Amino acid sequence: MKVWDSPISLKEVTHLGQEPFYKKSYQDRLTEISERHHLTAQETAQLMALANERDGQLVENYLTTYGLPEGIATGIRVNGVTHDVPMVVEEPSVIAAASNGGKMTALGGGMTATVLNRQLTGQIVFQKVTHPADLAAKLTQLAPEILKTANAAHPSVLTHGAGATDIRVRPMAPDWVSLDLQVDVGEAMGANTMNTMLEAVAAWLTPQVNAPILMSILSNYATECLTTATVKIPVAAVATKTLSGATVAAQIAAASQFAKVDSYRAATHNKGIMNGVDAVLIAMGNDWRAAESGIHAYAARNGQYEGLSTWRVENEMLSGELTLPLAVGFVGGAINMLPLSRLNQQIAGVETARELMMLAVSVGLAQNLSALRALVSDGIQQGHMRLQYKSLAVTAGATTDEVPTLVAKLTAVSHADLATAQELLQELRQE
Ligand code: MEV
Repeated sequence: MKVWDSPISLKEVTHLGQEPFYKKSYQDRLTEISERHHLTAQETAQLMALANERDGQLVENYLTTYGLPEGIATGIRVNGVTHDVPMVVEEPSVIAAASNGGKMTALGGGMTATVLNRQLTGQIVFQKVTHPADLAAKLTQLAPEILKTANAAHPSVLTHGAGATDIRVRPMAPDWVSLDLQVDVGEAMGANTMNTMLEAVAAWLTPQVNAPILMSILSNYATECLTTATVKIPVAAVATKTLSGATVAAQIAAASQFAKVDSYRAATHNKGIMNGVDAVLIAMGNDWRAAESGIHAYAARNGQYEGLSTWRVENEMLSGELTLPLAVGFVGGAINMLPLSRLNQQIAGVETARELMMLAVSVGLAQNLSALRALVSDGIQQGHMRLQYKSLAVTAGATTDEVPTLVAKLTAVSHADLATAQELLQELRQE
């Protein structure tokens, strides 16, 4: 029986009849991809030169290792300690902006960060529940045994003083019930711990409740894993060459208010915050997609997607505040596999998951301040283009010695693209 009319044959997609791709040796995979995509010997060698055995253990169908630049945001002062913060990011100007934000916030003594709570949330979702209130009451009554079952499924967390701590039951129309499990996962990000616990609890509950379970999975909406950074700086700290600190500070506050009412602006405002947060999380071997999804859900917690930071001016002082759900890990997972993440923890001077939460939110706040200051004064293009010209010069083939002269030439022309950069580089080499 033909059940599905596909425009493309299964054979074409899976290369049926051949040994599955994942079972092939590294060399065979490389050869297959090179042949299928007509790569030159030089291109194939490039893929192989970047490959290493460790990364081959991290992902399936491994081909090569895609590197990203890592730089240091200097002078990020949090709770009285000045940090050098490793950031991994491909966008020019992010690290410069973070350092610049760090410098401005340091003029007010730096940022103050606190961890409000650090619990992971997981869900067991019941569907087609005929009497949601009855199920909710039963689950609430079973709470001590649910916690016991969860902890028995992953006893090693208990040895670290962590473990399942609480449950919450949320009935939802028309016939859903979510059983939320709260787990203190210690220093780990805890996704595996949580999912192991949830599946054990789901298996234990199934014969006792009269409702099918749809799924059991952690939630990235980490509302019980919040961290806040605040800062208070004299308005003079944000003055530009042409505008007074009071004017710029008032505009920064207006920009933060506008991001609260307009989701178009809020998305970009928050992207600027995530420039900093993601770059830190990547450097620390963390799952930044998990942080992204949780943080954006948090930005929409009031029913509308809003800017996450708040800036206010009072008595010649500009104050900023940013709270983010950040269920980061300090041990385990990719952190053990990526040697640079350990080194980056050391460079950043963070020793626990809580310290990493506080550092990441602080970088987000500093990054946001820097972006808003540029946006409400000179605009971002000036600084941005200088760095873009540098990328362009490198892409055009300029050597390290040639880059500064080529950047100066690119700055002087009205339209700078790759072709212009290549032409100017030829000119430069003939001078
Ligand atoms: C660019 O990567 C980030 C900004 O757009 C952030 C913002 O608009 O606030 C500059």
